[in-house]
Amino acid sequence: MAMMDSPEIHRQEVRQRYAALAAQCGIDQGGHDQRGQDFSDPRFGSARYDPDESANAPTDALAMSLGCGNPVLVADLRPGERVADLGAGGGLDVILSARRVGPAGFVYGIDMTPEMVRAAQANASQAGVTNIEFRLGVIEDLPLTDASIDVVISNCVLNLSADKPRVLRQAFRVLVPGGRIGLTDVVADDAVSAEDRIRLGRTVGCVAGALSRSEYLAKLAAAGFTETQVRFTHQVAPGMHGAIIKATKPRTSRSTPTTAAT
Ligand SMILES: C[S@@+](CC[C@H](N)C(=O)[O-])C[C@H]1O[C@@H](n2cnc3c(N)ncnc32)[C@H](O)[C@@H]1O
Repeated sequence: MAMMDSPEIHRQEVRQRYAALAAQCGIDQGGHDQRGQDFSDPRFGSARYDPDESANAPTDALAMSLGCGNPVLVADLRPGERVADLGAGGGLDVILSARRVGPAGFVYGIDMTPEMVRAAQANASQAGVTNIEFRLGVIEDLPLTDASIDVVISNCVLNLSADKPRVLRQAFRVLVPGGRIGLTDVVADDAVSAEDRIRLGRTVGCVAGALSRSEYLAKLAAAGFTETQVRFTHQVAPGMHGAIIKATKPRTSRSTPTTAAT
């Protein structure tokens, strides 16, 4: 997929791919997803979760996991917190988050693919969690009100967006002052060129446009975040890594940047 497509064409292509994956629950009978990847690939999906955490998750939600880490762990969620998961997919991280924040907390799962939202709702109902809501929408224009969320999480989705600075500004907007983000994503070494990232991304599946570590840190800062960190966790291709991304919205901050060009 070419990242120079218009953002809407780009989103349509991504949406079609995930609609197809949702339709077949992400895996075929041979244990491979539509990207031809081995479902037991330790770099992606349910293999990135601690067995203790995933043991009680619905089988379908686990089978549909398409992430590259465990943002629920990264975000260190606490009881009572309000959480938003950007690109919630089959809902595994929403379900696990809902259990962590408990009945006093609440979790929103945002996804632009109707088939994914329906599958996530079915998986959540199978899990019996009620402190959640899935909303159809794009992460570049989050269907959430300003300053209504304590923690933004996301698992391997930002690399798919054609407008990552906008997604980060939206995350900043919906967070309360003092709120935080805890993401997992695929991130490249600074030395890997943008062209090589697209080529390498294809070899590991649907990684369309990974940022380099320096670019990620710069875009987080441009969106207004502080205490930023990008830490590699495991290699997914030469020069490309699964990574943990953390940042904080300052308690006293300038207004949400809306025109930053980065
Ligand atoms: C790689 S999957 C990850 C799903 C989930 N986070 C997980 O760990 O299994 C990407 C998901 O993000 C959604 N997505 C991709 N780009 C999006 C966008 N711009 N806005 C909203 N959802 C998006 C897709 O529909 C898909 O469900």
